Amino acid sequence: MSKVTVVGAGNVGATCANVLTTCSIADEVVLLDIKEGVSEGKAMDIMQTAAILNTSTVLRGVTNDYSATADSDVVVITSGIPRKPGMTREELIGVNAGIVKSVTEQLLKFSPNAIIICISNPMDTMTYLIHKVSGLPKNRIIGMGGALDSARFKYFLSQALGANATEVEGIVIGGHGDTTMIPLTRYAAYRGVPATNYLDAETLGKVAADTMVGGATLTKLLGTSAWYAPGAAGAQMVKAVLHNEKKLISCSALLDGEYGEKDLCIGVPAIIGRNGIEKIVEFDLNDEEKALFHKSAEAVHKTNDALAGAL
Ligand code: LAC
Repeated sequence: MSKVTVVGAGNVGATCANVLTTCSIADEVVLLDIKEGVSEGKAMDIMQTAAILNTSTVLRGVTNDYSATADSDVVVITSGIPRKPGMTREELIGVNAGIVKSVTEQLLKFSPNAIIICISNPMDTMTYLIHKVSGLPKNRIIGMGGALDSARFKYFLSQALGANATEVEGIVIGGHGDTTMIPLTRYAAYRGVPATNYLDAETLGKVAADTMVGGATLTKLLGTSAWYAPGAAGAQMVKAVLHNEKKLISCSALLDGEYGEKDLCIGVPAIIGRNGIEKIVEFDLNDEEKALFHKSAEAVHKTNDALAGAL
């Protein structure tokens, strides 16, 4: 029996629960929210698709009852406020730090052995905060950003190539911020052939730029931040853990010297399996990419420094 808890029944949390349920990724899913009725309603709505979509996962919604989350194998934290048009993810830190801290403490009381997946923004800093408040081994805390950013990179690549997104390779490292993420265009490929064979530098540059502001573009269109791909990216990570997939997924991981950085969580390629982050994979970066990564790490450190005032 596998059990997953998703905290936050907003758009992202509900979408994550929906994918976990409709794709039968876990046996049991609990969706928890502080707002009376919302998680129960969304869970019931999703469960009413079971007969249509032929799924067997049992999803339950609860209001703030952490005892219902007991013995979860994986917990996904989506709590906090989303950004509004024109806001950066970093501006959310004041409100979201306190929420994520308390949610983490409550979850661990009932699921001391869970793997934690963090989606709340600013995601790299919230992932780092979870390390600080929990003291858990670093493999057990995974930030979702790189999975989403890489999916967006593959989307824009597939559009430029006129190809199917599942046949495109693309990975984004660095911070999950409009100016801090680094789409590795040099490693982008279509069926193993470098994307540079098909796309000129200008087109690839545009693909990278569109990827970096992918979240902001959607926030502008929607009036709030995106949810389908963020929720699905969270579910993809849960699946990699529960099914011990050993997939290489970019995620925010606590670094201790890898890529020349330490004491921060930032997006790097990692093997995700039953033990969470089982291995950080060090890509061979050129000087330009190394410089971008270092700059990105400096920006994430700066946001982390604001945690002291936020808690
Ligand atoms: C985004 C938010 C979820 O990138 O960070 O859409």
